[in-house]
Amino acid sequence: MKNILVTGGAGFIGSNFVQFMLNKYPGYTIVNYDVLTYAGNLENLTSVEKNPRYRFVKGDIGDAAAVTAALKEYSIDTIVHFAAESHVDRSISGPAVFVQTNVVGTQVLLDASRAHGIERFLHVSTDEVYGSLGATGYFTEQTPLHPNSPYSASKASSDMLVLAYQHTFGFPGIVTRCSNNYGPYQFPEKLIPLMIANALNDRPLPVYGDGLNVRDWLYVEDHCSALDTVLHRGVNGEVYNIGGHNEWKNIDIVKLVLKELGKPESLITFVKDRPGHDRRYAIDAARIKNDLGWVPAYQFETGIRRTVQWYLQHRSWWERIISGDYKNYYAQQYANR
Ligand code: NAD
Ligand code: TYD
Repeated sequence: MKNILVTGGAGFIGSNFVQFMLNKYPGYTIVNYDVLTYAGNLENLTSVEKNPRYRFVKGDIGDAAAVTAALKEYSIDTIVHFAAESHVDRSISGPAVFVQTNVVGTQVLLDASRAHGIERFLHVSTDEVYGSLGATGYFTEQTPLHPNSPYSASKASSDMLVLAYQHTFGFPGIVTRCSNNYGPYQFPEKLIPLMIANALNDRPLPVYGDGLNVRDWLYVEDHCSALDTVLHRGVNGEVYNIGGHNEWKNIDIVKLVLKELGKPESLITFVKDRPGHDRRYAIDAARIKNDLGWVPAYQFETGIRRTVQWYLQHRSWWERIISGDYKNYYAQQYANR
């Protein structure tokens, strides 16, 4: 393994992963293949853009010719597939692009990877494919799939395609399913960065429904280290859940963010619930621990403090997103390339 194509490397987790891998493996080349949707932001990668082992290719995973050209040009032997439409609320207002990117795009990428003769294909998925839990219990890799949103349905479909290619063609595919991530570079439409940005602007913090929905939060760097572990030690055709036993009610997360920022709880506003809102997610990550020896390194208290600090120190980063200015970065940075 030396030439890795990371799809969706300009997004939240992808950009953290690109930086993580370049730092950890001096012998690897990382090619970031990203079409730069609203969620793709090359400003996330300014720290590595001059690194000779990093390349950016602007392309769509659904464009077979462009994917094939990138695989050939950079002699890619490994793919880590993050590229997706990732926001549940957007999947409710407009499902079509979720099917196009997450399902059709993944299938096109799989065919191109297969034809190219890839050595390993790691498909980055989500615990949301398992549906919603009641007050007790955990998702294991044996939990039946029961996706409830167009987003999770599209991710479940792509998981099934990867596993079907492995079963049918002996394709070297592996699937990981992680719980909710938080940390630097998360687009401020997701719960934690949205609440930080609104609080810092003294704007209302919109909590859906009764605020008692539960999510299981993992610091993004822990997700990256888990993916690195699965990439090197995982078994083809297997599914690995990733999580850190860190369940929080939404309302408690929002109150914690306000406390960290020294802002009043009076900013909290309960708003209409998300249609079909999953009540609780919680991951059983015993397999990745027992089989591959991975455990998270960050305590939540440390991770959330780092995250809040990061958003405080990178105010221009998220303000440029909110204003739309970040979209100009590509035009300026790559104008003459
Ligand atoms: P994100 O929305 O921040 O980034 C997605 C990236 O994919 C963007 O850079 C975007 O430009 C790119 N992209 C979208 N469509 C593309 C296409 N057709 N071709 C090429 N690139 C395209 O997402 P994220 O939160 O970083 O999530 C990354 C992956 O991890 C997704 O597959 C998601 O399902 C999965 N995941 C996310 C979480 C989470 O909490 N954020 C948890 C578990 C799994
Ligand atoms: P989100 O970050 O969108 O992740 P996901 O839906 O994939 O878990 O939302 C996390 C939780 O926060 C979810 O229960 C919905 C809730 N939420 C709010 O209450 N208000 C908001 O403005 C957002 C974006 C999410």
